[in-house]
Amino acid sequence: MTQEFDPIVAGAREAFAKAGTPAELENAKAQYVGKAGRITELMKGLAALSVEEKKTRGAAINQAKQAIEAALAERRQALADAELESQLQAEALDVSLPGRVREPGGLHPVSLTMERIEQIFASMGFDVADGPEIESDWHSFTSLNNPPNHPARSMQDTFYVDIDGDDGIPYNLRPHTSPMQVRYTHQHIKRYADAVQRGEPMPEIRVICPGRTYRVDSDATHSPMFHQCEGLWLGENVSFKDLKVVFTDFCRTFFESDDLALRFRPSFFPFTEPSAEIDIQFQSGPLAGRWLEVAGSGQVHPQVVRNMGLDPEKHIGFAFGMGPDRLTMLRYGVSDLRLFFDGDVRFLRQFR
Ligand code: DAH
Repeated sequence: MTQEFDPIVAGAREAFAKAGTPAELENAKAQYVGKAGRITELMKGLAALSVEEKKTRGAAINQAKQAIEAALAERRQALADAELESQLQAEALDVSLPGRVREPGGLHPVSLTMERIEQIFASMGFDVADGPEIESDWHSFTSLNNPPNHPARSMQDTFYVDIDGDDGIPYNLRPHTSPMQVRYTHQHIKRYADAVQRGEPMPEIRVICPGRTYRVDSDATHSPMFHQCEGLWLGENVSFKDLKVVFTDFCRTFFESDDLALRFRPSFFPFTEPSAEIDIQFQSGPLAGRWLEVAGSGQVHPQVVRNMGLDPEKHIGFAFGMGPDRLTMLRYGVSDLRLFFDGDVRFLRQFR
């Protein structure tokens, strides 16, 4: 066997070894076994030889070619292995690294209060109802015995919404949850009428309506968006005494304290007569001794009962409206209402 082509094979091996990338390797390959490569040229040269010479020289060239192709395949594999290895290195996971923790969320302190209020009143047989935040002028005021141009309307700095209702009377962002008294009763009026038709006594109306309310107001104790929870209890014989019992019970459960005094201070609201402001007083703790206003209340005005579609001779009872934001501040000792709505997680995470 001739050694004539060994240097070519050795040259190819060296060139392949020098190639550091697949592209460089393909270039090196072209110089040997490509169309104009060394081996290809040698093959072409066979044409001029005799049959005998063709045989021996052809076999030798072929052997060289096979050796080059084997070297090429080997180098290709080596480059592919190296590529894979460096990719694995780059994508390596350090399993000892601590993971990114997603902290569990929590309810907003005012939501916690809302839930608490709902639970306590539900346990006293109250329904819980939701109402619209964009409310008609009639529901917000007129139905509550507070007609247009009545001076009592100035008790609330209302946001009016720039769309007119069908009757040309503006809508507003409800300044209180009181419109829900009439709305809720209207929603259930058929149920009441059906009961009466069947000869049953009319069911009592016992409901709370928590939700967002709006006023043009902003300082440490007022926010343009705030919360209220309305309460309504109407029956044949529901009195102020019941209001006192229900609200006292509620406050003591809410604040988890029997050491709590309540005061009903005479006041005015167009939709109740008589009306009272409800104040509470803690007997111990940082707020001890101070009277703190937590709700407005009163016996539902006969005109409001009429606007509900009911007979004020037969449906007597009370309503109240309290401020869950205020209750939250008192319960947790927060002095600035704005903290609730700033969205600062350092503040909010304390209630988790
Ligand atoms: N709606 C009143 C307010 O926002 C609070 C209120 C007072 C509600 C007396 C009542 C009530 O239901 O009877 O100031």
